[in-house]
Amino acid sequence: MSYQARFRVWRGDATGGDLVDYTVPVNEGEVVLDVIHRLQATEAGDLAVRWNCKAGKCGSCSAEINGRPRLMCMTRMSQLDPEQPVVVTPMRAFPVLRDLVTDVSFNYAKAREIPSFVPPADLKPGEYRMTQEDVGRAQEFRKCIECFLCQNTCHVVRDHEENKAAFAGPRFLMRVAELDMHPLDAAAEAGIDRKKTAQDEHGLGYCNITKCCTEVCPEHIKITDNALIPLKERAVDRKYDPLVWLGSRIRRR
Ligand code: SF4
Ligand code: F3S
Ligand code: FES
Repeated sequence: MSYQARFRVWRGDATGGDLVDYTVPVNEGEVVLDVIHRLQATEAGDLAVRWNCKAGKCGSCSAEINGRPRLMCMTRMSQLDPEQPVVVTPMRAFPVLRDLVTDVSFNYAKAREIPSFVPPADLKPGEYRMTQEDVGRAQEFRKCIECFLCQNTCHVVRDHEENKAAFAGPRFLMRVAELDMHPLDAAAEAGIDRKKTAQDEHGLGYCNITKCCTEVCPEHIKITDNALIPLKERAVDRKYDPLVWLGSRIRRR
């Protein structure tokens, strides 16, 4: 069944912009990205939108639909009230380039700040062995499609540009947690203390486990429960470990 939907789409660039009203046909089974593409093909040929797979796997089409951070290609029109306008705006936490396209380079900068997996010195590739439980934990985190909806949603940076320098955000704290919990990661032998850097360099303490990141994750990764809270517990254990405390006292002398 087709119907005419009212769309309000944010148009503009870094200097400013506003919501623009459109009336556009919608066909059965369509998602918000289909309608945005129809707008591009008809009355808004210069509407900027980032997308790639249209299957919820590339993480490109992140935006805010009626104020909620979502993937446009995974939001069915049938989930939305046909009587109400559909408001589509760019992700709020990142600078707008044009229309629905934001500059997400903050996230790539944060990714580069995390030291990579350090291979164990005594094992060659192919000799690595892990329990299924450890594999399963890493696999959940590896489902991340880097849509950055969690980064966009977390209140620590959403309305606080000033926190961005000190806070890596949920996606990248999850990466630190993944590496810190990896049984074969030899970072400690290389002089990297992932629990300490999580606190001192990636802003783990800023997270007060509100779980908004988990709520918007299209891959349903339990970011808070399975990555951030365990990382906090491990970091606290480290802080109160008497051997770590003694070591830091000796090093200070
Ligand atoms: Fe997107 Fe989820 Fe990855 Fe965050 S953790 S970037 S919400 S897929
Ligand atoms: Fe932010 Fe998620 Fe923590 S929303 S405060 S990173 S639980
Ligand atoms: Fe790839 Fe939406 S277009 S996730």
